[in-house]
Amino acid sequence: MAHVTLGDPTLTLDAVPDPVAGLTTGEAPFIEDALAHGELFIDQPYNLYTDANHDAWRRLYSRMRPRWGQFANGAFLQGIESLCLKPDRVPRLTDVNRFLSPLTGFQAKAVAGYVPAFLFFDCLRKREFPTTVTIRRGDRLDYLPEPDIFHDIAGHVPMHTDRAFADTLVRFGECAHTGAEIARSIRDAGERRQTLKSIVQAMARFFWFTVEFGLMRSREGLRVYGSGLLSSFGEIQHAVESPSVQRYPLQLERAVNQGFAIDHYQPVLFVVEDFDHLYELVGRMEQWMKQGKLNNVAPGEPFVADADLDSFLMVS
Ligand SMILES: [Fe+2]
Repeated sequence: MAHVTLGDPTLTLDAVPDPVAGLTTGEAPFIEDALAHGELFIDQPYNLYTDANHDAWRRLYSRMRPRWGQFANGAFLQGIESLCLKPDRVPRLTDVNRFLSPLTGFQAKAVAGYVPAFLFFDCLRKREFPTTVTIRRGDRLDYLPEPDIFHDIAGHVPMHTDRAFADTLVRFGECAHTGAEIARSIRDAGERRQTLKSIVQAMARFFWFTVEFGLMRSREGLRVYGSGLLSSFGEIQHAVESPSVQRYPLQLERAVNQGFAIDHYQPVLFVVEDFDHLYELVGRMEQWMKQGKLNNVAPGEPFVADADLDSFLMVS
């Protein structure tokens, strides 16, 4: 059981659980307190989950299960089995890691909130996955702009049991280091920020259209491997079946120049051949970065916050 202090070092969550507060997204005093104290990486305060939190997990999991069988790629389905997630309880990260770690070395690492871009990618390089511990409200199962533990553990982490996919995430982390090095080598401060902004935008877009919203070809037809789709009851089917979605073979040049919005179903998706193909494209992205090809990608979404740029520039 995690041992977590709340300001007063004598007060521990194990000793004084607060069953009312819960760990509901946007309504969790524990999370607000952690962020107020500058704590980003935390222990998962498991005994704070309420019955309503567990019930939200149970409902999310049970309605997604048949959709995964229909639309998810084989590596994900194997991953769900390997992780032994309980259908009716919010998962304990220590339990998840016991099954995950021996497979690929990856671990889910609890965080209290948004992880600035460089820090996030650097975690991937170290085979750590920043994982949200809060869960959406039971009356808002369908739409949540920010990640929650269902998105992170049920959507992302099963993919981390696949060796080729896990290696691809590590490659993203290495790319972030290359981007930081390139930025540091630019003497003019304005040019440095402008170039870095374009590189971060390219990386964020490529990550979005693959790790978050990727489709893959398979013998059975199109299958989903992107976590944004794997954790969305409505969009997983829409992504595969809707005639209104534009689906293109994944090309680096298209993905890094394609904007996206997070508040509606994605109208454009990209199809990868397999994870070796994806790994190779992340390597090519790094090459393009070194050649300066990503210094002026198409303007537009996503917005790159100063905190994200600073996270790249503060690397020692
Ligand atoms: Fe995600």
